[in-house]
Amino acid sequence: MKIGVFDSGLGGLTVVQAMTQVIKGAQIFYVADTKNAPYGEKTPEQILQYSLNITKYLIDTYKIDALILACNTATSSAIKHLRETYPSLIIIGTEPGIKPAIEQTDTGKIGVLATPATLQGDKYQKLTQVLSSQKSVDIYEQACPGLVEQIEKGEMNSEETKALLEKWLKPMRENNVDTIVLGCTHYPLVSQSIEHIMDCNVSLIHTGEAISKHLLTLGSQKGHLNEGDLEVHIHTTGEIQIEIIDSIIETYVNIHPIDVENN
Ligand code: DGL
Repeated sequence: MKIGVFDSGLGGLTVVQAMTQVIKGAQIFYVADTKNAPYGEKTPEQILQYSLNITKYLIDTYKIDALILACNTATSSAIKHLRETYPSLIIIGTEPGIKPAIEQTDTGKIGVLATPATLQGDKYQKLTQVLSSQKSVDIYEQACPGLVEQIEKGEMNSEETKALLEKWLKPMRENNVDTIVLGCTHYPLVSQSIEHIMDCNVSLIHTGEAISKHLLTLGSQKGHLNEGDLEVHIHTTGEIQIEIIDSIIETYVNIHPIDVENN
């Protein structure tokens, strides 16, 4: 199976890391669109265009069988259009794990950290409306503008990043939130700081494992045997911090600079 995966940058590698625990005998072609990061502060039209360019590149260059949008923001703006455009491709997106958070909370108070575009998107609004009508919970939403840039710069543990997280998490800590949804694939990269600020009294929800299992189910239905080695090829449209890649993914084959706009 040839699997295309993309995100605005390094965040989607947290999903690829989860995939390496579940998927075998496949090639993963990852695109980090760092030239256009952060997506979360762009318009839905811009995000759709970036997603279409990358998908076309992955299909034309690698003839992928499956596409993973390892990005909540791109899923919100582009998955519907991508599914309509490529009906025979397996397409899986990333959505904030509100459902598991609602099932898991003891205090009935959950937090959601995500990009501004994800929280404003219709997809998120509809998801929370439907789920919160099924069980009464208080949801503390927090957009985190600037956090993706800090992570892309490698400043996961800088004073500035910690101060931003302190400010955003204060209402959640004061209101007994016990479960926080990491609604952006970059945010697992600052999970230690989040746990520390919340005094470790918190479960963090991210969806990499669920995406990987879903991919395995859909891939198996199309004949994927899930045996043998897994190869990860990384592509980037702009600058990228190689040390951060090394800290997320144990082994990958190579890093290619690419231009998806003039493909
Ligand atoms: N990692 C992405 C997400 O899950 C995109 C973040 C961004 O570029 O703003 O939303």
